[in-house]
Amino acid sequence: MELLGALSPPWWLLLLSLLALLLWATRRSPWEPRKCPADLTGKTVIVTGANSGIGKCVAMDLARRNARTILACRSRERGQAAVEEIRAATGNPAVVLRLLDTSSLASVRAFASAVLREEPRLDVLVNNAGVTGLPFAITSEGLEQTFATNYLGPFLLTNLLLGEWRGWGELWRLWRLLPAHSLLRTDLLKASAPARVVNVSSFRHSLGTADSAFLTGQRNPGGYDAAYNSTKLMNVLFTAELARRLQGTGVTANALSPGVVSTSIMRHFSWAVRALFSLLRPFMKSAEQGAASTIFCAVSEEAAGITGKYFDSSCRLALPSAAARDAALARKLWEASERLTGLTEQH
Ligand SMILES: NC(=O)c1ccc[n+]([C@@H]2O[C@H](COP(=O)([O-])OP(=O)(O)OC[C@H]3O[C@@H](n4cnc5c(N)ncnc54)[C@H](OP(=O)(O)O)[C@@H]3O)[C@@H](O)[C@H]2O)c1
Ligand SMILES: *[C@@H]1O[C@H](CO)[C@@H](O)[C@H](O)[C@H]1NC(C)=O
Ligand SMILES: *[C@@H]1O[C@H](CO)[C@@H](O)[C@H](O)[C@H]1NC(C)=O
Repeated sequence: MELLGALSPPWWLLLLSLLALLLWATRRSPWEPRKCPADLTGKTVIVTGANSGIGKCVAMDLARRNARTILACRSRERGQAAVEEIRAATGNPAVVLRLLDTSSLASVRAFASAVLREEPRLDVLVNNAGVTGLPFAITSEGLEQTFATNYLGPFLLTNLLLGEWRGWGELWRLWRLLPAHSLLRTDLLKASAPARVVNVSSFRHSLGTADSAFLTGQRNPGGYDAAYNSTKLMNVLFTAELARRLQGTGVTANALSPGVVSTSIMRHFSWAVRALFSLLRPFMKSAEQGAASTIFCAVSEEAAGITGKYFDSSCRLALPSAAARDAALARKLWEASERLTGLTEQH
């Protein structure tokens, strides 16, 4: 009897097994990147956070389709290692590194002006870089770090590459950075239409809050979990508003959830949380499987022309949360983000 009692699993083990089973069941995606024939010869793509996890697998796939593949990474060492790995695996020599730290608006501006100056076209922008588990902290630019990394940096990046700004200040800043002989290109994505913007969000957006006071740390969302959820909600809201603004330009914008994927995303958590995460790893999607829904939005025939939508981790059109579908909220967040990034002049 004693022995049986000791053997019967405690409740948390049961819960864990149930979770494992659930994860296992949702691993397979009905859409297989390898079966998609899309070829990107002559096209240029940018993948942010492309040195690990989902981003690296997405970049690998796009490079295999012969795209000029720009890995936008914050670390030269990690970025260059990924460039070499992808070049070796795909035989595509046009895989390059450009430094980008999405948590810094200055870095985003420098990256965008280099791209506008040196790249003749841009067909796909994948906003993948993201963090979770970081403590609440304000960057030297006065932004909260998780919000800057996951949301506001990518917001500015997307707008600069689109040429969406109306502020003369921004134009002037860029103009000074450009060599006098080069033409000021401000519409890289639009000029390359049909082009696609793809935002890696998460199913976790559904419990987020889109309070723009979070962006500068004027309000604390209450922990990294809430912060992460809220950045992922903002990703979906912005995709919707961008799509609305891009109507008729031939540039589409969609958001997606990769599912629960075994990557290094948990690196900032305590050892206990990471240990628990590790137990579940074998049941999760691999980074390669987790990349499928992003690749689907970036290249598939099925997603061509679709805009302002949210795809689930099985590459199916899904309805995001009610807050994520609130057009007024999306517009409010957009306007606050424009002011914070200097995309509109404040007089
Ligand atoms: N894994 C999941 O279960 C899951 C679920 C839902 C959504 N997602 C989303 O998927 C995306 C990719 O995550 P992942 O799971 O592949 O995690 P990952 O392996 O940790 O990859 C994240 C990538 O983003 C980069 N990055 C982080 N901060 C950056 C910054 N300030 N500037 C530039 N790059 C930065 C990282 O670069 P460093 O190496 O320099 O840190 C890394 O390359 C994220 O947006 C994440 O929110 C993941
Ligand atoms: C996603 O898309 C919007 C526009 O749709 C962009 O401004 C936003 O910053 C992008 N990136 C993320 C990670 O949300
Ligand atoms: C964030 O979202 C996840 C999944 O939707 C949820 O389990 C978690 O409780 C949320 N965290 C907060 C603080 O809202």
